[in-house]
Amino acid sequence: MEPFDIDPDIRRARSLPPSAYGDAALFARLRERVFARSWQWCPEAAAVPRDGDAAPFTLLPGCLDEPLVATRARGVVGILSNVCTHRGHPVVACAANAASLRCRYHGRRFGLDGRFLSMPEFGGAAGFPSTDDDLAAVALARWGPLDFVSLSPAAPLAETLAQIDARVGSLALDRLARAPGADRDYEFGASWMLYCDNYLEGLHIPFVHPALNDAIGYDDYRTELCPWGTLQLAFARRADDVAFALPPGHPDEGTRVAAFYAWVFPNMMLNFYPWGLSLNVVQPVGAQRTRVLFRAWTWDESLRAKGAGGGLDQVEMEDEAVVVASQQGMRASLAKRGRYSPTKETGVHHFHRLLAASLG
Ligand code: FES
Ligand SMILES: [Fe+2]
Repeated sequence: MEPFDIDPDIRRARSLPPSAYGDAALFARLRERVFARSWQWCPEAAAVPRDGDAAPFTLLPGCLDEPLVATRARGVVGILSNVCTHRGHPVVACAANAASLRCRYHGRRFGLDGRFLSMPEFGGAAGFPSTDDDLAAVALARWGPLDFVSLSPAAPLAETLAQIDARVGSLALDRLARAPGADRDYEFGASWMLYCDNYLEGLHIPFVHPALNDAIGYDDYRTELCPWGTLQLAFARRADDVAFALPPGHPDEGTRVAAFYAWVFPNMMLNFYPWGLSLNVVQPVGAQRTRVLFRAWTWDESLRAKGAGGGLDQVEMEDEAVVVASQQGMRASLAKRGRYSPTKETGVHHFHRLLAASLG
């Protein structure tokens, strides 16, 4: 497909070319230029509670497909490449606890910190071992209850989340408790970008989500842009609708926020409701296929079904239906580049600008 740019002036800008939503070559470039440089949620960092634990996993299956292993050595959790530096065999096949990691192909040994330890029959090799023989370590950082990894970070995690942290960092993140009962994995036939486009505007809410629309105000719905994401604020419609009790000094003190919807480029949504956090990770599994993970952490389970943060399954089904239908439209030979609502689609415009900038 031809290169695209997005006019910085939303009033003039045209949106992404329809072919961008299904192009295999673009998907390969996005993997390298966008996803490899992004921070991705890493629940596996919590899967190694004891020294000597090693837990292999694949980062973003179907997109990055990077074989990694979480390890714990002397209390320090690390995320390492799980590719043997001898000839590429996986080093750790399944979760284990051991004093060192040993590749079963030719017996190369590594410390739990990834350092090369030993290898049979390499006595005569010149300049061996060197740091090239160690397992590569991947950047790992924490924010609130969440661990993140990045293969080649475009910016430090703290910088990536700075503006979102300024808004929701004071909401007692340390008291959030993981609630696995609400875990959901959705999968559907549309580009991850269409799913994000849809998330990044409130314009569709009155048309697509009647129940949600009844809980939040349309006119005061707000989108703020950050260097690496967006923040959308929804406010409770009626005085008795559930809203945050914001701490003194909070930038939104005195307003009745029903939801903070934070999106982090390219594929992560942190939705804060009075009941807690719903994390959505949008995982591309192909140019036109997407998996979305929903994971929850709660402050107050009793508020779960109420307000903007209630009925999330229903809202998800409504969103998937429009996204899958739009994907079919994007495949049509007569499909055209669209335009943006200057008042309600600043988030979508921002996303497309970040994409265009990352692709260069
Ligand atoms: S591939 Fe691991 S020791 Fe040869
Ligand atoms: Fe929606």
